[in-house]
Amino acid sequence: MRTGSKITPNEPCWCGSGTKYKKCHQARDLLKELQGQTGEALRAANPPSAGYVAVRPGVVSDRRTVDPSIPAPSYAKTGQVAGDRGANLIKTPDQIARMRRACRAAREVLETVKKAVAPGVTTDQLDAIAHEEYQRLGGYPSTLNYHGFPKSLCTSVNEVICHGIPDSRPLVEGDIVNLDITIYLDGMHGDLSETVGVGVIDDASQKLIDVTREAMYAGIGVCRPGQRIRAIGQAIEAHVAPHRYGVVRAFVGHGIGEMFHLDPQVPHYDDPQATFVMRPGQTFTVEPMINQGTWQHESWKDGWTAVTADRKRSAQHEHTLLITERGVEILTLPDGMPQPFTH
Ligand code: MF3
Ligand code: CO
Ligand code: CO
Repeated sequence: MRTGSKITPNEPCWCGSGTKYKKCHQARDLLKELQGQTGEALRAANPPSAGYVAVRPGVVSDRRTVDPSIPAPSYAKTGQVAGDRGANLIKTPDQIARMRRACRAAREVLETVKKAVAPGVTTDQLDAIAHEEYQRLGGYPSTLNYHGFPKSLCTSVNEVICHGIPDSRPLVEGDIVNLDITIYLDGMHGDLSETVGVGVIDDASQKLIDVTREAMYAGIGVCRPGQRIRAIGQAIEAHVAPHRYGVVRAFVGHGIGEMFHLDPQVPHYDDPQATFVMRPGQTFTVEPMINQGTWQHESWKDGWTAVTADRKRSAQHEHTLLITERGVEILTLPDGMPQPFTH
């Protein structure tokens, strides 16, 4: 038996590795502790509601600090994001190698946070776990102070489309929550997200999540050198149309690398203005947000949280991609999952 929680972050880890606790087992211990608390008691205290209840803002905890030894992007101090003028969008082999490491680490953080999702767990607790896990992997949580964003991941619950701020709201059985993870590691950002169910969810929500994932892969599947970015939105719309869901237009995928958000913009709907052409060595995200009802959104007073205008649910899935000579490689796949498209 061990009680990792008694150790302070800078003390040597209990496992005897000789590494500081925060760089070693702290994130995993937090997760274990949380899982110890979940289960029947929390489930009973957070029963599923008869219908959908609107998500309300909770209390946002104090800003978490990042170990100063971890290389941080320039906005970490200021909240001001530098422009990307003149960035070369074709990455060198060295840049690509660093993108691979960042994207792999982002996947690892997401897998850790996903395990903590359960009724009764607050999105702030998910933030605490993600925050430690980024640092254990040697990375900075890219969202932290990005244009002033206060937390280390985005947690978007039910009708929240994107950019939900982790807060004191406990997840409730039947909720759906998007976990959007971005790490800055080796000088590169790696970005991915998934929407998952909390406990047992209704069939309509499961279908929304599944169709959104399929739509993302439909968009990724058309990527190859010489292809226009526009084809991604066309493929997503074609996949979603039979279900009569809304495809969000206000938020788009994006180029990514040394900067969190770069050219090109990647609309998930058919946008004739998306004339950018894909070339080997480019890295960008595909991250469709799909709504049960209208594609239109409203924003909370916090300046971040985007919700569906009709308060029906919204799901999102995101990968970071590399255009290769032969097609597309997904950089944020889970370990060991085969690439679905030639590359
Ligand atoms: N990760 C989000 C994306 O996919 C961006 C979050 S930016 C934040 O592009 F400021 F809201 F954190
Ligand atoms: Co993201
Ligand atoms: Co993104």
